[in-house]
Amino acid sequence: MHVSNHFHNALQPRLAQRLCALTGMEKAFFGNSGAEANECAIKIARKWGKAKRGPDCHEIVTFTGSFHGRTLATVTATAQPKYSAPFAPLPAGFVYVDPADVSALDEAITERTCAVMIEPVQGESGIRIFAPDFLRLLRHLCDEAEALLIFDEVQSGMGRTGRFLASAHADVAGDIVTLAKSVASGVPMGVCLARGEAASTLVPGDHGSTFGGQPLACASALATLDVIETEDLMHHAETVGKAFLAGLQSLADEFASLVLEARGLGLMLALELSVPQAKTLQRGLLERGVIVNAVGDAILRFLPPLVVTEDECARVVATLRDLLADLKA
Ligand SMILES: Cc1ncc(COP(=O)(O)O)c(C=O)c1O
Repeated sequence: MHVSNHFHNALQPRLAQRLCALTGMEKAFFGNSGAEANECAIKIARKWGKAKRGPDCHEIVTFTGSFHGRTLATVTATAQPKYSAPFAPLPAGFVYVDPADVSALDEAITERTCAVMIEPVQGESGIRIFAPDFLRLLRHLCDEAEALLIFDEVQSGMGRTGRFLASAHADVAGDIVTLAKSVASGVPMGVCLARGEAASTLVPGDHGSTFGGQPLACASALATLDVIETEDLMHHAETVGKAFLAGLQSLADEFASLVLEARGLGLMLALELSVPQAKTLQRGLLERGVIVNAVGDAILRFLPPLVVTEDECARVVATLRDLLADLKA
């Protein structure tokens, strides 16, 4: 299961090569979780920024509603004080912007900015899908300001949205991309991928992890990529996701007094209610064998496994229809 990382492990470079080919990146660092992958991204950005423009160039811009992890730095990058406030004092150097406020974004990116960090689809705050134009604007602003663009694809990556990276829908490449969650199908793994100057910023001794990239996790990740490829799961995620969204949309039409909106990209979907009843519906679904997440009071989030079938999604929609009818009554 484990070989000291003083030694070469043949699976790790094979996995790094495959992930780089899938993401357009050049180097990979392996850790054990999404938060660790993002810590690595933050360290690269800070070291790169200081080398580029001096010690003041250390700020990272993140977005309201984001979620980047629970270590001190990543929980601070997470622009939701409910997660970070109890643990103050927090690390300095994070600047939060409301993604709806483009002029605030323009002002927030300054000489001091070493990176902008974003989930192309915000997961924990209820599937907020950023428009391709917005991601392109971010790329443009980062290029103009000479700042790195970090895509946190911990939740949206690995084919879940129908493309290997959700950012690929906008045809925008980050300088750094992070992956975790399903990357090794349940064996702990987080990956920080980088290209260009960002890829050559960390040198041996700057960063490390005892178990990161150990053979068991690498073998599991390689097998995961094999299954995604041989079973065409990215395409599957796209087609099943479309059918699931159409089902959720029909509920939004049928129960217009209770449902505000159905939205989704591939197999990242949400139903936003106009009433604070998400937890009631979540409980009802669980009692009927359907596991979903209630994000806050009014959003149900659906992140089914990539092997979910159209029939299974139709069953979820039918169950929800019964529950919404009860709620309406
Ligand atoms: C977008 C995103 N980034 C980072 C994380 C943190 O990942 P982990 O729980 O593996 O540390 C999560 C977890 O939900 C996430 O959704």
